[in-house]
Amino acid sequence: MVSPLCMYSAVGGMADDWHFSHLSAFARGGASVVFTEATAVEERGRISPGCLGIWTDAQAEAFKPITRFISAMGAVPAMQIAHAGRKAAVRPPWEGGTPLTDDDVGDRTPWPVVGPSATPVADGWQTPHALDQNEIHTLVASFAAAARRAHEAGFRILEIHGAHGYLIHSFLSPIANRRNDAYGGDLAGRMRFALEITDAVRAAWPEDLPLFFRISAVDGPPEGWSLDDSVILARELAARGIDVVDCSGGGIAGAPHFRASDSGSPLKTSRDRPPGFQVPYAERVRREAGVKSMAVGVIIDPHQAETILRDGRADLVALGREIMYDPFWPLHAAEALGCDPGFKMWPRQYGWAVVRRAELAGDRADES
Ligand SMILES: Cc1cc2nc3c(=O)[nH]c(=O)nc-3n(C[C@H](O)[C@H](O)[C@H](O)COP(=O)(O)O)c2cc1C
Repeated sequence: MVSPLCMYSAVGGMADDWHFSHLSAFARGGASVVFTEATAVEERGRISPGCLGIWTDAQAEAFKPITRFISAMGAVPAMQIAHAGRKAAVRPPWEGGTPLTDDDVGDRTPWPVVGPSATPVADGWQTPHALDQNEIHTLVASFAAAARRAHEAGFRILEIHGAHGYLIHSFLSPIANRRNDAYGGDLAGRMRFALEITDAVRAAWPEDLPLFFRISAVDGPPEGWSLDDSVILARELAARGIDVVDCSGGGIAGAPHFRASDSGSPLKTSRDRPPGFQVPYAERVRREAGVKSMAVGVIIDPHQAETILRDGRADLVALGREIMYDPFWPLHAAEALGCDPGFKMWPRQYGWAVVRRAELAGDRADES
């Protein structure tokens, strides 16, 4: 599967030619499921001014060429719905991913951000407005409305983004949630927002279509959200009709961990993030919560991916950066694993030519 990948390139939250070309390349390359980036359920829920949205019918309409093409390629179009919460209103990663300031004007003007408590991500970040219970109920309804629009737009899998320090995760984590009402305090209180969204989205999303939920299985700091908490949450999610728990990690206290430009934290080196470093989360959630799980994070080699599935450590594997590097990764993986010796999995427009390419490569090898 293709993991959600923000492009920070939309105008007014609308999918355009870039998003079509980005997502259709993965369908052409043999991915089974192609996820949109985190798509905001309301305007202030965008991470950056360039993030996609689905808070209007016009935005839903703009996804239709994308879902049509992905479906025509035999892949499943999937949407991740999200709210950036206190991590909203930032610059794209190639400009540092830092909060927008008063120097940013026009369509880059920062907007007030929201969260469970008036606790900023870190120095230099906006202090969020702590949502009151009426505002929370409105947001739950926004997630449900987004689910209905996603279905209307042709998506066949939906994922609720509950990871990476964004709004839902910030309610779960004691690092960001300092409330003492029904939406904070103990684990049940901190899970309430996530579970109410799940109930509302499950009711709005067709019963026969899969609903995923992405978690940050661990926060990192010892006082944060733990893998034990994730197992408890996953059980609750499964009881409410979540089909797959997508197991990512981190992000509560700063920029998402996948940002290459991050430095200074020992958790952000490749030594601490070896291939498949998050697979143990998916494995434990699957084993102990009785729900299907998805593994993601530095899954790069076809044999590695296949072994995760064959060993029953996860039900699905998702790729991010590796499939950006090689959008034909699934077809190349099929070849490497010996599943597609005749290039029959390739789109017919390419397959016959790729066969010829292989013959010519063989001829060249014979000649040398
Ligand atoms: C450019 C980029 C954008 C991302 N955008 C999202 C996103 O919108 N939603 C999300 O849940 N994760 C997002 N992620 C995280 C990826 O989905 C994935 O979990 C992470 O990159 C680890 O997988 P990888 O090692 O295969 O890249 C993004 C990662 C990258 C590199």
